[in-house]
Amino acid sequence: MQIGTKIIHLSSVDSTNNYIAKRILVDNLPSGTVILADEQTNGRGQRGKIWQSESGNNLTFSIYLSNVNLSVDRQFDLNIWVSVALCRALTKIGLTPSIKWPNDIYIESNKIAGILIENSLSNTGIKHSIVGIGLNINQVNFDCINATSLKIELGEWRNVQEVLFQIIEQFNHADMNEIKGLKQEYLNQLYLLNECAKFEDKDGPFDGQIIGVTESGKLQVEKNGFVKDYYLQEISLIN
Ligand code: BTN
Repeated sequence: MQIGTKIIHLSSVDSTNNYIAKRILVDNLPSGTVILADEQTNGRGQRGKIWQSESGNNLTFSIYLSNVNLSVDRQFDLNIWVSVALCRALTKIGLTPSIKWPNDIYIESNKIAGILIENSLSNTGIKHSIVGIGLNINQVNFDCINATSLKIELGEWRNVQEVLFQIIEQFNHADMNEIKGLKQEYLNQLYLLNECAKFEDKDGPFDGQIIGVTESGKLQVEKNGFVKDYYLQEISLIN
């Protein structure tokens, strides 16, 4: 899937994901269109959270995909493709990223990027997808304690648009038809894979170990000698 042949740059918008959702109701956006905003007034994160980002200092953009061609039960392949492409771009820039399931991008134990994928489904599969990405670039002060940015990690200012072009290049190199290899790369970079950690599920806190991710994207965690598969809302990591 090629992206970035059309890029729309907005100075301010509520949310680049919302912008695409509204625009495709009235317009024919080509698949792969990228919407970039200097500022979002209502940036959205996963699990209904807000995504805060200093105006002009970070990357906040969304990609419209109308040719995903994945069945409903293979939706997670898209998360893999996006996470791996973003990690490849960050690695090229000189960082050592890892992926906190399902698709937060971390540098050591600090979050540098978040991904919000919103799929529109039909009976047969994904009709279209809106992939929103927030990557901290030049911001150095955060309300949240475990956040980081390129500036914090590399000690230097980066041109936000140049970073976007580097990311687009990696998306265009990552081949969705080679999903097996991409999934292996995803697992190789999975945060806390095979390490003991503290989790919480509906039965309370427990010590466990992430051992993998199922085809449908559930997190596989070993708990008291048994492997349990979890959806996003069903488990959290306790720091
Ligand atoms: C998360 O980590 O919770 C996901 C954050 C996703 C933020 C990006 S910024 C661009 C796009 N527009 C939004 O409103 N959200 C995503």
